[in-house]
Amino acid sequence: MGFSDPQSLSGKRILLVVGGGVAAYKALELVRRLRERGAGVRAVLTAAAARFVTPLSFASLSGERVYEDLFSLTDEQEMGHIRLSREADLVVVAPATAHLLARMAQGLADDLATTLLLATDKRTLLAPAMNLRMWLHPATQRNVATLRGDGALFVGPDEGEMACGEFGPGRMAEPLAIIAAIEAALRENTLLPLPFAAQGPLAGRHLAGRHVLVTSGPTREPIDPARYLSNRSSGKQGHAIAAAAARAGARVTLVSGPVEIADPPGVATRHVETAQQMLAAVEAALPADIFIGAAAVADWRVEPSADKIKKGASRAPPTLVLRENPDILASIAQRREGRPALVVGFAAETRDVLAHAQEKLARKGCDLIVANDVGAAAGVFGADSNEVHLVSRAGVQSWPRLDKSEVAARLLAYLFEKLAAGQTRRDGDAVMETP
Ligand code: PMT
Repeated sequence: MGFSDPQSLSGKRILLVVGGGVAAYKALELVRRLRERGAGVRAVLTAAAARFVTPLSFASLSGERVYEDLFSLTDEQEMGHIRLSREADLVVVAPATAHLLARMAQGLADDLATTLLLATDKRTLLAPAMNLRMWLHPATQRNVATLRGDGALFVGPDEGEMACGEFGPGRMAEPLAIIAAIEAALRENTLLPLPFAAQGPLAGRHLAGRHVLVTSGPTREPIDPARYLSNRSSGKQGHAIAAAAARAGARVTLVSGPVEIADPPGVATRHVETAQQMLAAVEAALPADIFIGAAAVADWRVEPSADKIKKGASRAPPTLVLRENPDILASIAQRREGRPALVVGFAAETRDVLAHAQEKLARKGCDLIVANDVGAAAGVFGADSNEVHLVSRAGVQSWPRLDKSEVAARLLAYLFEKLAAGQTRRDGDAVMETP
């Protein structure tokens, strides 16, 4: 891992929330490294954290007073909790224990740490640390998915030997890796937009009463009982869109290929493997107001062999005959009846991104293409962030690299505006007039 110049965080203010876990001692090292790079650090300890490490250690290393108590009058006079949460450039939670993640996901505010986390207007970077079974527990994974959907960033956890003697994922990321994640987060705008409810024209659950149908993840096309053709999609982008649509009040159906991430909360998720199954599940879920094809559907399939293909006596490699899969996006966009008012596709390209996206927009007949560069250098497959261009018949709108949950929220706000503007033709096709 390459690290930046010694003063890379000069002038930046980090609010460090320390949860109560064995890894809390590593948070001291993190403070030291942050200070070395020129950052100011204010530490907030939960009651449990103060049993693992002393507030005095944090005060000595940070050179600032340490905050622990929500009800301390002195704190409120000197530095109200709202101000404390707003004055930072970034909020970092290290270690983020299972309990702290659960409280955050629920929106609880029952101590100073969780109150700050709820009140902050800045991005939150979480460094989870816990026993591997706690990390892998569906409840924790649900909480992680909720927090990602809310815009939280994550670093780690790492795999390795744990304090409890078990081996697996759950170790807190090393301080230098957390520093790298902090530097990356601070390269973007860390100011969180206000939730829709507070934003006038997009007030409230603005997609209430709408049905949003989303595809996500890869498809898997069997070659024989043991092998398949697939791709690197993790489902993060599509799932984030489904989660954001649910948060905006829509009824959401997500048709997902095989992924390792949790189903988004509040979403009806259908699990499929092949492109043909995905098409059938999408058609079964219609009618919908908005269709968003974020899945990386395999263009080709193989007529699968019933038995595992063996090496022949000649050892010549077998020939795979590829057949074209149905194009789900095109078939939904070109429906004569029951076409969703807005049909949105993605374009995963490795060169000439905009030109290919424009070609797909025209060929498939959808209303909007969200184009992204999936070349190795861009690192979009499986990543938490994405840089997209919205290509419509009226032009192109390019967004900076954003967390996938942020891309999702902005995309839905954009589509909502199109729906609300009532830009529909007589036959129901949407017209996207402005980029
Ligand atoms: O899942 P992540 O790791 O988060 O990565 C996100 C992503 C890169 C997969 C996502 O952002 C993305 O680009 N999804 C579309 C991938 C893709 O298949 O692109 P494409 O250019 O090959 O296809 C264009 C569009 O046609 C897509 O909307 C696709 O869903 C659709 N399609 C393609 C082939 C097919 N047989 N049927 C389809 O519906």
